[in-house]
Parts: sequence; structure tokens; C-alpha cells
Amino acid sequence: MSQFFDVAVIGAGPGGYVAAIRCAQLGLNTVCIDEWKNPQGKPSLGGTCLNVGCIPSKALLESSENFERAAHKFAAHGITVEGLSMNVPTMISRKDKIVSNFTGGVAMLFRKNKVTSMHGRATLLANGKNEGESALWRIQIKDGDKVDTVQAKHVIIATGSTPRTVPFAPVDNERILDNTGALALTEAPKRLGVIGGGVIGLEMGSLWRRLGSEVTILEALPQFLMASDEQLSKEARKIFTRESGLVIKTGVKISGINTTGESITVEYVDTADSQENVQKLEVDKLIVAVGRVPNTAGLGAENVGLILDGRGYIEVDANCRTNLPSVYAVGDVVRGPMLAHKASEEGVAAAETIAGQAVHASLDTVPWVIYTSPEIAWVGKTEQELKAAGVQYKAGQFPFMANGRARALGETGGFVKVLADTNTDRILGIHMIGPYVSEMIAEAVVAMEFAASSEDIARIVHAHPSLSEVLHEAALGVEKRAIHI
Ligand code: FAD
Ligand code: NAI
Repeated sequence: MSQFFDVAVIGAGPGGYVAAIRCAQLGLNTVCIDEWKNPQGKPSLGGTCLNVGCIPSKALLESSENFERAAHKFAAHGITVEGLSMNVPTMISRKDKIVSNFTGGVAMLFRKNKVTSMHGRATLLANGKNEGESALWRIQIKDGDKVDTVQAKHVIIATGSTPRTVPFAPVDNERILDNTGALALTEAPKRLGVIGGGVIGLEMGSLWRRLGSEVTILEALPQFLMASDEQLSKEARKIFTRESGLVIKTGVKISGINTTGESITVEYVDTADSQENVQKLEVDKLIVAVGRVPNTAGLGAENVGLILDGRGYIEVDANCRTNLPSVYAVGDVVRGPMLAHKASEEGVAAAETIAGQAVHASLDTVPWVIYTSPEIAWVGKTEQELKAAGVQYKAGQFPFMANGRARALGETGGFVKVLADTNTDRILGIHMIGPYVSEMIAEAVVAMEFAASSEDIARIVHAHPSLSEVLHEAALGVEKRAIHI
């Protein structure tokens, strides 16, 4: 027999679980359906982000960064470490514990907020009656041999994304790894190849490089980090290759992969080479990180006429409404950046729209953070976007090298750049590479949300000595009045 709900949320990643909790807070009787299982075969809430994404990657990045500091940076402080070693299985089990605490935490939040949690794959069923507010959506939930059906007035689809695959490098998570395998290695491979110089490639490459792997990243495009400001990606490339020891090859076309021997041989050509000479890279493990694709497999979009765009994303309007009445879609399965905080914000907006509130989830001020060393963060428009749009802007920039706190930390690479409209001085974008910019970007986001001018930031008192002074000085630099440069 069917159970009835006001809202059925499909997917319990940061889009879905946050939407479900917000619905329940607003007094809506809510079910959240999710099919994720952990390696022990147990249901595990939290989606990609908590299980094999944001949380485990940051746990491992922190561990490896500590190792790197002890190995290479403590000496400058007069600290001698003898017999330093890394126990990778301990690092991995610490990460697994953090993950299980968080995934269990979502289950606890569901109980606290009286969200009904159901495990299994959800499929939208044709009901022949999907017009008008009173229509109920029918959803089948299949968990092994067990099949349930629920009915709901509203549906929020938050089914997320899965790694994009390439035919020449089939992932087995033994030798050829996606993000799941890359986060579960029990020892640092001697030679690690990474296909894709995007966000995952850089984070995973940095992580295993710090633990001793020789890492080579093969990127198809002539540049890496195409979404970021060009100056930022150039600075990042300089630091990652000269100081961090990552080998980054761009403009690469992979022609084949041979896995028959002890090692994996990647054959590729440099697209800038007119002779198209085939080059070979021998590695022990290979990570494939060439983007992610929206996950609508088995959802039953065709049963109900849910419209997907040409790339497989569910089509939505600015308020995450699909073409079907009372059906919303949020997070990685819809347009926009594939980021956890963007998914959550859309989840809240969908819940509040269902509850009749006036809401708007703006994608203009979604911050990006890449947790490499140094970290990279930005919000708003890049210089190349402003140029392409013909917008007149002024720029102010300040290096961490001239900042007291950065010197004390011994982390002086990078800069902050503020871009502001030439006529109005309104901030259009802020770009950062340097220590802890993952935390500093929040000030930039607040400023842009409140439509601040560069002068607003320039006139705000920033604590001394703090890294935030670099943003202050960059804002002063827009009018060429930075003090310490
Ligand atoms: P997901 O988290 O993918 O969750 C979707 C859920 O729906 C899954 O549990 C899935 O099993 C379930 N599901 C799918 N179909 C069905 C169905 N038919 N029935 C039932 N359940 C279904 N983002 C950041 O902002 N910061 C980071 O630091 C960051 N690091 C990342 C690191 C890695 C290695 C990866 C891979 C991603 C990272 N991301 C990061 C991206 C982030 O994980 C995603 O943007 C985010 O998880 C998207 O949330 P979501 O709710 O849309 O989907
Ligand atoms: P990505 O889109 O960031 O990068 C993929 C890269 O692979 C691109 O540069 C692309 O040009 C390259 N590529 C594609 N095909 C290739 C081929 N055949 N050969 C060589 N290179 C090829 O995707 P990625 O790294 O897989 O990450 C997916 C998404 O997950 C990110 O875009 C981001 O939204 C999210 N994420 C966010 C993080 C964060 O916020 N810190 C961390 C990790 C992931």
C-alpha cells in the first residue's frame, strides 16, 4: 500500500537532504529516498559529497598537507622531525570515520526533523494524471527484491552526478580509478597518472604527490582550470609545477592505454606537435577525472515526460521548476556549477517555493574553492568574461608576499585580485590564490551579495596582522592606493 507525502525528495546528497530538512521545518510531511550504499553494503546518506567527494577529499588533503609540512616546512621553524613516516591505512581509516560520522549525522537530522528516510532506487511512475496542484506523483522505490510505492504532491529531484567515463580508460578502481578509488588507495603509488587537469585532478594529484607519488596530469585543453581567471590559473600552474612538483601536460590527446604489463602505459600526442609524435607515460595507477555527468539513470523521466536538455541535465527555470507541475530539480542534475553549496541553496529554494515563500537562488555569487596548496578561490566574473562582454573594469591586486600573517605562516605564494566596474565601482569579481583563501572568499561573497563597491571594502577596518588584509589592500589597489606595495 502506498504512503502519502506532501513532498518526496529523490536523492540525499547536499541538494536532497538539505531540501528534505527544510521542507520538514516548514511543516511539510516529507520523504527522502536515496540508493547510496557504503563499501560495507549499508545505506549511507549524504550522496557524492559526504561519501566520495567533498568531505573525504578534504580529510585526506588535510592529512597529506600535515605530512608535507612536517617533511618540508617545519625545518624553517627550527623544528626537527626524525624518522617521519606516513601510515596511509591510518589516514584512510581517519577519513572513513569522518565520513561515517557525517553520513550518520544526516540520518540523525532526518529523525530529529521527522523526515521519513527510505532506501532504494526511486523511479517516477506514469500516473496519467499529472496536471494541476491536486495531482499526486507516484514513485516506485526498489531496494533489491523489495518494491514500495509512495505518492506525493510535490517532488524534488536531487539525483546528482556520476563520473564521466572515457572508452579508452575503463575504470576498475583497482588500477584505473575514479574519485571513489582515488580516495581509497592504501598506499601512495610510485607513479600516478591523472587524466584531466580539472578540480578533481588537481586535488587528487596534490594529495598523492605530497605522500610521495610522482604525479603527471594530462589535460586535453591548452590550459588547465579553464573556468578560473586566466591569471589565477597561470599563477597556479607556476606554483604547482615549480614548487609543488606536479608535472602538468596540457594540450594532450590520448591515443591509447595499455594495461597488460605490470604498469599502465598511456600513449598520447601533444596537439602542438605538428609531427604528432606518440609519447608514452608509464604509471602504476591512473586516475580518470574528466568531468561529471548528470545522473538521471533509472529515474523514469520518460515515464512522466520530464524534459532533459541535450546534455542530459534536467531542464529547470531560475527557481528550479521543471516542465512538470510541482516537480523541481536541484544540484548537480541541473545547470550551473557542480558544487555542494550550490546544490544545498537550490534545495532550500525549492522547499521554500513549495511552502509558498518568495525565494530566489542566485548563481551569480556562488563561490568556487579548490583545496590545493596554495588554495584557489573566486566569486563573480573573470577578467576574460568581462572582456568578452565588453564591460569596462578596473583591477586591484595585492600579493601574499607583502602580508605579515602570510610571512608568519611561511605561505607567501599567490595574490588577491579585485575587479570593479570602471563607472560605478561595483565589485564584479574577486579572485584569490594563497593560504586559507577558502575562508577568505566569504568576505568577497558577502560584499558582492550586498552589491558593494571596491571602496566599501577599502574603507572597512581589517584586523592586523591577518590574511584578510590582502583583500583590503587589493581593494585599495583598485584606485591605486594600496599602502604596502
Ligand atoms: P549528489 O551528492 O551526487 O547526491 C545524489 C544522491 O542521489 C546520491 O546519493 C545518489 O545515490 C542518489 N540517487 C541518484 N539517483 C537516484 C534514484 N533514482 N533513486 C534514489 N537515489 C538516487 N563540491 C564542493 O562544493 N566542494 C568540494 O570540496 C567538493 N569536492 C568534491 C570532491 C570530489 C572528489 C567530487 C567527486 C565532488 C566534489 N564536489 C565538491 C562536488 C559535490 O560533491 C557535488 O556538487 C554535490 O555532491 C552535488 O550534490 P547533489 O545533492 O546534487 O548530488
Ligand atoms: P572538471 O570539469 O573540473 O575537469 C575535467 C578536466 O578534464 C577538464 O579540464 C577537461 O578539459 C579535461 N578532459 C576532458 N576530457 C579529457 C581527455 N579525454 N583527456 C584529457 N583531459 C580531458 O571535472 P572534474 O575534475 O572531474 O570534477 C568534476 C566536478 O566536481 C568539478 O567541475 C566540480 O564541479 C566538482 N568538484 C569540486 C571540487 C571543489 O569544489 N573543491 C573538488 C572536486 C570536484
